[in-house]
Amino acid sequence: MSNSERVVLALGGAGTVGSGVVKALLDKGFKVAVISRESSRLERLQSFVSPSTKENLTTLVGDVGSEGGAETVKQALLKTVGKVTDVVSSLGFSWWQGGPPHTQSLKDLHWVVETLLFSTFVSWKAFFPLVRDDSNSTYTFITGGAGEKLLMPGTGFLTVGAASTLAFCKVLREEYPEVPCKLNQVKINAGVGTPGHMAPGFLNHLELGEAVAALVERRSPSHSVVTVNCPADLKTVCLERSL
Ligand SMILES: NC(=O)c1ccc[n+]([C@@H]2O[C@H](COP(=O)([O-])OP(=O)(O)OC[C@H]3O[C@@H](n4cnc5c(N)ncnc54)[C@H](OP(=O)(O)O)[C@@H]3O)[C@@H](O)[C@H]2O)c1
Repeated sequence: MSNSERVVLALGGAGTVGSGVVKALLDKGFKVAVISRESSRLERLQSFVSPSTKENLTTLVGDVGSEGGAETVKQALLKTVGKVTDVVSSLGFSWWQGGPPHTQSLKDLHWVVETLLFSTFVSWKAFFPLVRDDSNSTYTFITGGAGEKLLMPGTGFLTVGAASTLAFCKVLREEYPEVPCKLNQVKINAGVGTPGHMAPGFLNHLELGEAVAALVERRSPSHSVVTVNCPADLKTVCLERSL
């Protein structure tokens, strides 16, 4: 199946990480669908991608973090694009540094876990059945690398949220050891920024997008975890494609 016949659902595709992935997938000739809760973010995405690829981008307003919202937008999606062959999930938020736990509320923790873990689980449950039984399909989770240690003072809840998503991905690999769809994860141990908002050690979201698009294109062996620590790791991922 050529790239132009593949339809990638990019969950979180209007975000920092997701927008780089969406642009790179479109540049490779894939059709891409993006769901966001905000129509203004989808408009920004439309003007961000390469103009010649715009016709291959479908955008829908919806909330994939609630069970009802995910089902509703799934029906609208299938009506518009007909099928989904691949999913890339980069749901969550970019950064959280609200302070050490004793200064935070249960509501803060709930928001963190809801945005990082619950949305990842609810959307996986809704959309994985679309690709699960096809060995030509892929489902790729993009996660942070937190979990092993605190990123820096005040980021504790981010660490808790990221660790829960990491654990969820591991659980899926172990609960579904032989599922036909390629179930993969890209674990990012660095900050990610847009070209105008970079900091030392950050990955450029465009370069990250190209690496993720290369992984989707070549349908990496299932149950692999690609760990990215620095920009050089992204180049390695892209080069592997041509071996
Ligand atoms: N940015 C970094 O430095 C970095 C580094 C390492 C790992 N990561 C990981 O990459 C992932 C994405 O980060 P990001 O920087 O791209 O965050 P972001 O810019 O805030 O984008 C996150 C996206 O998730 C979407 N989302 C969250 N809940 C949703 C829901 N219920 N329904 C629909 N969409 C929902 C948001 O959609 P809306 O458009 O609806 O708001 C947004 O487009 C996270 O898991 C993060 O841990 C990021």
